[in-house]
Amino acid sequence: MDRKHILDLVADMSLEEKAMQMTQLSPDLLYQLTPTNLTGPLRVWKFSDEALWKTGSVLGPLGAAFLKKLQKDYLAKSRQQIPLLFMTDVIHGYVTIMPIPLAQGCTFDPDLTEEAAAAVAREAAASGLHVTFSPMADLVRDPRWGRVMESSGEDPYLNGQIAAATIRGYQGKDPREKGRIASCVKHFAAYGQPEGGREYNTVDMSRGVLRDFYLPAYREAIEAGAAMVMSSFNTVERVPATCSRFLLRRVLREEWGFEGVVISDYSAVEELMNHSVACDDMEAGEKCVHAGLDIEMMSGVYAGTLQQLLDQGRITREEINECVTRILELKNRMGLFENPFKDADEEEEERLLYCPEHLELARRFARESMVLLKNQGVLPVSRGRIGLAGPFSDTGNILGGWHCEGKPDRTQTLLQALKAQWGEGLETAMTEHFIHGEADVPDRVEEAVERLRDCDICIAAVGEPEWDTGEATSRTNLRLTPNQEKLIHALHGAGKKVVAVLFSGRPLDIAPVLQDCDAVLQAWFPGSAGAAAAVDLLLGKYNPSGHLSMSFPRNTGQIPVYYNHYETGRPETEKENHYTSRYLDCANSPLFPFGYGLSYTTFTCGEMKVSEDLGKVSVRVRNTGERSGETVVQMYIRDVSASVVRPVMELKAFRRISLEPGEEAQVEFSVTKEMLSFYNEEEKWVWEPGAFDLMVGLDSEHVERERIFIPAGTGEQEAL
Ligand code: NOJ
Repeated sequence: MDRKHILDLVADMSLEEKAMQMTQLSPDLLYQLTPTNLTGPLRVWKFSDEALWKTGSVLGPLGAAFLKKLQKDYLAKSRQQIPLLFMTDVIHGYVTIMPIPLAQGCTFDPDLTEEAAAAVAREAAASGLHVTFSPMADLVRDPRWGRVMESSGEDPYLNGQIAAATIRGYQGKDPREKGRIASCVKHFAAYGQPEGGREYNTVDMSRGVLRDFYLPAYREAIEAGAAMVMSSFNTVERVPATCSRFLLRRVLREEWGFEGVVISDYSAVEELMNHSVACDDMEAGEKCVHAGLDIEMMSGVYAGTLQQLLDQGRITREEINECVTRILELKNRMGLFENPFKDADEEEEERLLYCPEHLELARRFARESMVLLKNQGVLPVSRGRIGLAGPFSDTGNILGGWHCEGKPDRTQTLLQALKAQWGEGLETAMTEHFIHGEADVPDRVEEAVERLRDCDICIAAVGEPEWDTGEATSRTNLRLTPNQEKLIHALHGAGKKVVAVLFSGRPLDIAPVLQDCDAVLQAWFPGSAGAAAAVDLLLGKYNPSGHLSMSFPRNTGQIPVYYNHYETGRPETEKENHYTSRYLDCANSPLFPFGYGLSYTTFTCGEMKVSEDLGKVSVRVRNTGERSGETVVQMYIRDVSASVVRPVMELKAFRRISLEPGEEAQVEFSVTKEMLSFYNEEEKWVWEPGAFDLMVGLDSEHVERERIFIPAGTGEQEAL
């Protein structure tokens, strides 16, 4: 369908039809069923039955048969034959669940991320879905916030790479192609920085911080072609993002040229009244229309106010038409006017959902995403009797929050995976999983120590319940529960070698047990094939290669702790000085830094070299151990004399490499002006000649460093 046809359709629409195109409801409302799968409050709806069936898109419907029926029923009632768009939260898998996004970040592997997203899209498309509310490109620094699991971590560059790869995987070259879906990047903007880590809380930061850290990944996502953007719940500079003209008009549309659809988060338009920027529905609707918010999710403000707002001259017909045109264009981009059912197909569902190929991919992805945090010569396990204890020993609840149609009941458990790969030399104890609503697992520690007395190595499968991660799961205490800590201490006390396998959606506060663990494998929530992947690593069939996408704190009071911070005038490094920026009872550095991850082999980074024209930096990396392995070489930059403060280091490039024992590789990175640039005080993208530190290393704490000096003719700022 061409643009003229779309404009004709818009011209022919009544205002009610337009308002309902701009409204997203759940399918239960249309069929007047008890709502299921809600991710927010259910309001008292004011829509007539007739109006309900004019909604332009629906939230959360699943399954080819149901979606085909819904589309058919809808079109049977539709005057203009404009098909519905189906959108839902396919965050890290549809039925085959991939590792959580925070773990995906730890792979530093955009290619594999793209491959996995393409598999996820194939499953979701076969089930009739058109749009997924993913990726979440929110930068995160505060693990108290339960949604850090949905982000790829604390670095703007890594987040941008992972978000773009995810979008390429979902959308391919064209989301209308078979097996592809459209991507809605979220939550624009800065949702990842709620005060105190408390869900939905105020976000308040300087424009410079917003530009330095929080905006870049969304921008990468837009450049990768994301079809939609979801505005965030939070405020930015005292204005809720839902109605922020600065964010939605100036940054997104004017600066970045985004022409796709913007949707609010769940009932966020109505919530403008709670924010006290609107005294009633009318004011809320008016503000959002002015901001160019195209679709209101799960509240009825547009439906109830657009006519009156227009009659009173508070909004214009052009503003409404702009929104509706964008929505119809998205439907057109997805090919829905020609084929409203797109790829919905029960037979394809049968063939694709949870198929062996997707499970194998999930296993590979999970393997790459796990991070070996500590290993004092116990891993990999090669002989002896293994003891297995702890709440994650025998549970399928390892998929993580937002696991869509994932099947915990069908998910292989660690115990099953160990039996399959290790055989009989295995003893278990204290394997009860968490019960919803209960704070801890039962204390069977004494019995466990007794039962595992003949085991040489004890795996403590510990962590936080998956339902404590995702939306609305903020916490102030990030330690393992008392009985889990007690289990680790007791096993260690009994002289066992303790290997902790940690299942969590965030960096937990593991300092209290670290001493008593001989090895720690951070498994995150690894998804449908995560148990097999963990066993692959524990037994040394594969070598761990994940590197942290988010720093681990030394304790909860140290949060936020992240590598790319600004420096103070009194850095902690001035040891002889009492008056420095530090804590009396804790170091400033994290327990484990961004970019960190061990392997069963060792790598060294030789001296770095900078080319004469300053355009290249290279380093020799050598596998100095006895096994082949993969590592992630990371290149960082610091601008040491800029017009505004710059982070102590910023990741600018990385490369995953694989080396045989004794093998060496020359790894070279380009240094571009783009990498040296930033937004100055006037919000202009500039680079300022002068001194820069170039750094290369295998984590953000251990780097080779060289200072370069780029002379400038004038010494003034140069716009690129
Ligand atoms: C609220 C969440 O913040 C958002 O991420 C999600 O996409 C919507 N609910 C829809 O479920």
